Amino acid sequence: MENNSASLPPKQRVSLRINGAERQLELAPWTSLLDALREHLGLTGTKKGCDHGQCGACTVLADGKRINSCLTLAVMQEDKDITTIEGLAKDGELHPVQQGFIDHDAFQCGYCTPGQICSVIGLVNEGKAKTLDDIRDLMSGNICRCGAYVNIVKVVQEALERSTAQ
Ligand code: FES
Ligand code: FES
Repeated sequence: MENNSASLPPKQRVSLRINGAERQLELAPWTSLLDALREHLGLTGTKKGCDHGQCGACTVLADGKRINSCLTLAVMQEDKDITTIEGLAKDGELHPVQQGFIDHDAFQCGYCTPGQICSVIGLVNEGKAKTLDDIRDLMSGNICRCGAYVNIVKVVQEALERSTAQ
């Protein structure tokens, strides 16, 4: 087989701000943010499901907005504040949405849970969800193969109530 490695573009230096810390990486330019997090930074809380933007398992926050980290290149995120599931707990206390998943028994295998949690936080930041149908619609990009949706919706409702009470 022909070896094309000599013609590949060189790795490039990428600075990422992840969970408040500056991280320097040498990455192939086509490295997705998801692979940078999992393979290069060891932040394996963010899950790889489909790797095609269809399941939401890889959802993280970029400047507070939810994104599918499998669909964006790491180099495109240099000016953003990236928050992963590892960055949500503060001073030993779970983020209220993390606690909500426990309180409402909103997961079974837990594989989709980090993406669901980041997505709930992003949804609250967006401020668009007003009804149950809005919640279902706006969370539809996050697939749960265990079918924990009923209790996930309760977590979202609680998070929305908390945000409007503030
Ligand atoms: S792994 Fe990114 S959406 Fe499925
Ligand atoms: S809890 Fe298993 S995939 Fe959602």
